[in-house]
Amino acid sequence: MTGGASPGFARGRRLRSTPALRRLTAQTRLDPADLVLPVFVKEGLAEPQPIGSMPGVVQHTPDSLRKAAHEAAEAGVGGLILFGVPAEKDAAGSQADAADGVVNVALQQLRADLGDELVLMADLCLCEYTDHGHCGVVTPAGVVDNDPTLDRYAAVAIAQAQAGAHLIAPSGMMDGQVAAIRRALDGAAYTETPILAYAAKYASGFYGPFREAAEGAPQFGDRSSYQMDPPNADEALREVRQDLAEGADAVMVKPALPYLDIVARVADAVDVPVSAYQVSGEYAMVEAAAAHGWIDRRRAVLETLTAIRRAGAGTVLTYWAVEAARWLR
Ligand code: PBG
Repeated sequence: MTGGASPGFARGRRLRSTPALRRLTAQTRLDPADLVLPVFVKEGLAEPQPIGSMPGVVQHTPDSLRKAAHEAAEAGVGGLILFGVPAEKDAAGSQADAADGVVNVALQQLRADLGDELVLMADLCLCEYTDHGHCGVVTPAGVVDNDPTLDRYAAVAIAQAQAGAHLIAPSGMMDGQVAAIRRALDGAAYTETPILAYAAKYASGFYGPFREAAEGAPQFGDRSSYQMDPPNADEALREVRQDLAEGADAVMVKPALPYLDIVARVADAVDVPVSAYQVSGEYAMVEAAAAHGWIDRRRAVLETLTAIRRAGAGTVLTYWAVEAARWLR
């Protein structure tokens, strides 16, 4: 192996030797436009309220949300997804579709402020709005009742579209939810409002911090009777196909990092845009390790986002969207 003879092995290191060569040959790129920032707006807050388990993330007041939305637009992120925390919750989650409900008012203000500069996504679920914390209406026996829930989702979709949402993202994992929402939107002349279906949403332990942020932890039981079981992979494809057949325009996998195999399989299987949601627990994990000095925060954040894109997601919903967008510029 000395002298000028060609060795019998490939020299993969050749293309890794300088930052410029690595940049030129990088197969996956991150672009601020691919990132969507999830935001929380809470009714009746005087000041933005930090979320203990998500350092750097707050529950917004309407005003602080408007400021954050402008910053996100300036940073070049692709969109926002809104979650509302109402002052009053009830069994039906009626604040979700009240025209003066916290999230609908926020959508209206942001649409007036920003026009079409950012994609304003409305998460459509009932768990932040119900007193029992489940994603649908509940029978006296404590079962989340699928079909009556669809009527509620239909009403919420119309209210969100009317408030100015550019896109509706149903996350409740009820069977038939996409069909019910599509029918409702079409019937109310919102034929042009797209649906991004949380198609493969798993019953995950990584949602813990979100439930503090959205104050939507179930008061009894858990979500395993409607969200997907973590051991299952083929079922994710079935959920995705079903949502597309019902009229979804784009699909999402959630969580992201522990489910990259699902992201990759879904991306291979479909020809619509695929999103992945890097959830609160994924955020908290990296923040906690970085706070201890155990990992390099910026490097780890960008590596996770790159991994999710590399797996096949076109869009990544991430609490780091604005910070990452600034790093990328
Ligand atoms: C509501 C909803 C949840 C998340 C997004 N939409 C919570 C849940 O299903 O319990 C989780 C997001 C996160 O953890 O960042 N259905």
